[in-house]
Parts: sequence; structure tokens; C-alpha cells
Amino acid sequence: MFRTHTCGQLSAADINKEVTLAGWVQTIRKFGSITFIDLRDRYGITQLLFSESLNESLEKNPPGREYVLQVTGKVNERSNKNKNIATGDIEIEVEKFTILNKSITPPFKIEDDTDGGDDLRMKYRFLDLRRNVIKKNLELRYAVGRSARNYLHENGFMDIETPFLIKSTPEGARDFVVPSRMNSGQFYALPQSPQTFKQLLMVSGYDRYYQIVKCFRDEDLRADRQPEFTQIDCEMCFVEQEDILNTFENMIKRIFKDVKNIDYNEPVQRMSWEQAMWQYGNDKPDIRFGMQLCNFKYPAHLFAEIKDKQAVPAINGFPVFDEAETVVGIAVPGCSEYSRKQTDELVEWVKRPQIGMKGLAFIKCNSDGSFKSSMDKFYDEEALKQMAASVKAKPGDLILLLAGTEERTRKAISELRLEMGKRLELRKDNEFKLLWVLDFPLFEYDEEGNRWVARHHPFTSPKPVDIEMMIQHDPSIKNAADYLQHPYANIKANAYDMVLNGNEIGGGSIRIYQKELQQKMFAALGMNEEEQQHKFGFLLGAFEYGAPPHGGIAFGFDRLCAILGGSESIRDFIAFPKNNSGRDVMIDAPSAIDEKQLDELQIQLNIKKD
Ligand code: AMO
Repeated sequence: MFRTHTCGQLSAADINKEVTLAGWVQTIRKFGSITFIDLRDRYGITQLLFSESLNESLEKNPPGREYVLQVTGKVNERSNKNKNIATGDIEIEVEKFTILNKSITPPFKIEDDTDGGDDLRMKYRFLDLRRNVIKKNLELRYAVGRSARNYLHENGFMDIETPFLIKSTPEGARDFVVPSRMNSGQFYALPQSPQTFKQLLMVSGYDRYYQIVKCFRDEDLRADRQPEFTQIDCEMCFVEQEDILNTFENMIKRIFKDVKNIDYNEPVQRMSWEQAMWQYGNDKPDIRFGMQLCNFKYPAHLFAEIKDKQAVPAINGFPVFDEAETVVGIAVPGCSEYSRKQTDELVEWVKRPQIGMKGLAFIKCNSDGSFKSSMDKFYDEEALKQMAASVKAKPGDLILLLAGTEERTRKAISELRLEMGKRLELRKDNEFKLLWVLDFPLFEYDEEGNRWVARHHPFTSPKPVDIEMMIQHDPSIKNAADYLQHPYANIKANAYDMVLNGNEIGGGSIRIYQKELQQKMFAALGMNEEEQQHKFGFLLGAFEYGAPPHGGIAFGFDRLCAILGGSESIRDFIAFPKNNSGRDVMIDAPSAIDEKQLDELQIQLNIKKD
């Protein structure tokens, strides 16, 4: 037998047993004539004791770091126990050892606290994966996947695979394309998601589908984006939005329970997209803390559906505010005593190119009830008091105000809110808050093309009340500056996102299932009939054969794992991730291919040098 036990298995109950272990050498320590080796495998670490009698063999065949060893010996009670590890009560008194394989010195320490930089760890990812922290992440990922599969199986969902070599129909992100040898000059695309296939499965009658599946998107990368990532992709037919929300919030709650032992018993909070933008400036608000926005000035038509708009005082008098389209503020708790240096630093923070504001105004709400502001020249005490009351500031709070164009200012205040939440430690890693954001706009205006694009994707259905309006109105935008006045700007979708701690972990919609409405949608996105047929003829055709009402959702599996694991980077939860330039530095991909391969594909390169 190669091994009788793993390196994480033995305890005081095994004392005096004769065992054989196999694993990697983590550390070697010599104490006089005795040698200790920590042997590691996937399950843990066991201390090995080599007594004087083995010194000759050790000198002849000295093991080094990361050597693969097989040892046989007796389990002894340890004199100084290590409470930090599961096997800390025992050690193996080695009788016989075999070096199964040697290792050259690893380029970084295979320990939690490694000295290896990011690039080096990615190049030697197979060594990085030996580290306990990464192993824990992959174990968590496996647990999340298993929990989701169990839940979906128990609820009648069927796992069906869909193809990876499909047709290129870029919408949103760019496609990765694959040339076809057998059909020269033609290309497959890798799917950005199985969207149309899962809809076709509904037409085929597989009323509950799921798949934990790779998706491929050629887009700019960030900490929470990879060019190939994994979705828990689901679709159901004969359901309403409510059924989908219930089914999938229960799936996430089940994952919380199975993976983190968290009982998330409260119902998941819900909020319309408009409400989210109004209160948090963001369509994926982190609701672990308050600090909600006070909207002093804003384009009213954007927030037509907000019912309980609070009255705010007129803030005329300060030229920056007078000229701005939008003025918004937050009250940061307990920060009224910020020094000049601290407020200056915040001003610099909002001026950074990522935030892009020209400045930041503030009001200090002193604990004695008085106010001190950066706008003292323009506002008297009474005006500041009224503003403070509107933003619900308490004595001791610091009010931060931003002014400018609607989109940028709202985004900036949302970022500032998150930053202040982080600085005040209001965003706790071990707290999980779920939120459904509902009623997204169906369309988004694309300035470059002066046209409408689908906010989610072209298969998302409009709210039934908006269908008439969509059918009646011409999508074309006469005057780009007035696009917000176009009736299409107000059409809401039957779409929903699930947000966890300020991250979009999933999104979906109730789909269009009638051919005519789908054609109208494609037309609204600027696709003529020929293009519609060319790109989506298969789907329009299928809709003629009894397509049932259906809807679904997809969760970002990597993101969900990263958040549950308390990390901002999804890379730590992917065994072999790409770096920020989309490269796998370990296998050195992408890379050039042979002339011969190009010839077979009948492809000639025409690389443009900058
Ligand atoms: P969507 O594009 O919103 O929807 O994707 C669903 C979820 O996938 C995650 N995600 C990503 N994760 C890592 N890297 C990326 N590049 C990346 N892009 C997206 C997000 C997101 O919420 N077919 C639809 C779903 C549907 O309508 O059913 C879709 O793909 O967490």
C-alpha cells in the first residue's frame, strides 16, 4: 500500500500504530542528531522525527524542500504539542523513508505568508496551488458548486450541456472566435453565456434547466472579471418573476447554510432600480450600511417613480451648486472632527481620474449644534442647518456634497459612500446582505452609435404595461441630446439582479417568447430583418413552434465564491486564472501558432505595428 493514512488524519487515538505516509517536504529542522520534517499533503501536515540511526541514510539521500517522500514509522505522542494543527498531538518516528521524487528549490515559499509576488505565483501556479490558502479557496468553490447542484437537483432542475463552438453574435462584450478548418474563412465563437440555448431548451420542454458552465467574454478585465469565467446558469418555463426570485434566493440561502453555516432567515430585501440609484447612486448598492444619499438637485424625469421624495431646501447661492445638474450629499457618521488635512485628502480623492470630480464640499456638524462648512461664504447657519436636516445628519457627522452632471456625480457619490463605509469599517467581511434590484430600464442609450442597446440582453421582455408603447413608437432618436425624453428611455424590463454586499452576483429576466415582440426588440436595437435572420433566425424560427413563457437567471460562480471567501479578487478562487492582460503566464497563452496551422486554416496574418 502506498500510504495507510493522509498527513491530516492521525491523532492521539493512533498512538503506537505503524503507518505509512506520503507527501511533500514542507520544512526540515535539525536539532543536534535529530531531524524533524513536516510532511504535507492535501489534508494537512504531520511532523516526522528522524532519530540518530537514520542519519547515515539522510546524509546519503538528503531530502530537500518540496521533495516527495514516503515514510513508514510509528505514531508517537509529541512532547511539545502543537494546538494549531489537527495532527499536533502526535509525530511519526520514522523507521524507513524513500525519496519518491526530488524537487529543485521552489521560487517562493509554499506557505500562507508567501514571499512570491503575483506574477511569480501565476507562473508557478501548480506550486501556488499547494499553499493552504489557495487550497481552502478551491475547497470553498467545490462546496459552493456541490451545494448549488444539490439544491437544483432536489428542485427538479436538469443539468444539460450546451455547445462551446457557436455562432458569433456579439452584443455587449466582444466574442472570442475560433477559426474552422473544415469551413475555411468561417469562424465559431465561444459563448458569452448559454443564453439562447437555454431558451431553446425551454421551447423543447425541459422546463427546469441548469448548468455550471464556462462563459467567454473578450472584455477589459478587473478584479471581478475574467475572460473565461463560470456561471450557475438556470432557466425555467411556466413561471413568473416571483417564482424565479423565490427559487433562487432559496438557492443562495442554501449555499450560505451549507458552506458558511449561516442561517439567512430573513426575506431578501427588494428595491427598484430607480430606488437604488436614488438612495445609493448605484444599481448594486452595498446595504450593509446606511449613509443614504440626499438628493438636493437632480433631473426629475429620471426619478419619476420615486414616491416619497423628501422635501429639500433650495440651495441657491453657491455658484457651483447653482450651475450643477445634480447635487447630492451623504452624512458620514462621527467624522465632524476631521482635520483640514483629512478633508483636503478627501478632496484629492474625488479628483482622482477614476472618480473625476472637480471638487468636494463639506459641512461639519459640530457636537455643540453649530456648523462649519467649506461654503461658509455662501450659506448662513440656518441654510446649513436645513441642509444638515435633509441629509439626516446628527451632531458629530460630516456631510460630503458633490455637484456636477447627473451620471458622473451620482457615480462619484456612490464611490465616495463605499469608500467612507470602508474607512469606517462599516463593510464587514463576515456580514452578508442580499438584495434584489428589480425593474431595470430595458434600453440604454449608446452615445457613439446614437442608438438604443439592450441593458441586459435582447431577449429580456419589457414590462407588460410598456409593450404597447414599445410597439407604437419609432426607436430612432432624432436629437441625441434629448434621448432621455424618448419614450424608450422609460421602458422598464422584467429584469432582476441579485446583489451581495455591493457586488452583482447574478442577473436574469423574464424572456420574450413571441416572435413578433422579439422582432420588434431586435428592430429597436437597430437590426434590420436580414440581420435578424442572419444572427438569430434559429431563435425566431423556434418561437414559431410553441415557445412557452419562460425566464431565468445566471449567477457569477467565481464572484459568489470570492465574496463568500472574503476576497475581492475572483482569481484566488480559480485554479488556473488569467492575469489582467488576459494571459495565462504559466502555459504562456495566447501564443503564435505555426505557419502550418495557419495554412490549414487558410489564414494569413496581417499584424499592424503601432
Ligand atoms: P450576465 O451577463 O449578467 O447575464 O452574467 C451573469 C453573472 O455572471 C457574472 N459575470 C462575470 N463574472 C466574472 N467575469 C466576468 N467577465 C463576468 N461577467 C459576468 C456576474 C453576472 O451577474 N445570460 C445572462 C443571464 C440570464 O439572463 O439568465 C447573463 O449572462 O456575476
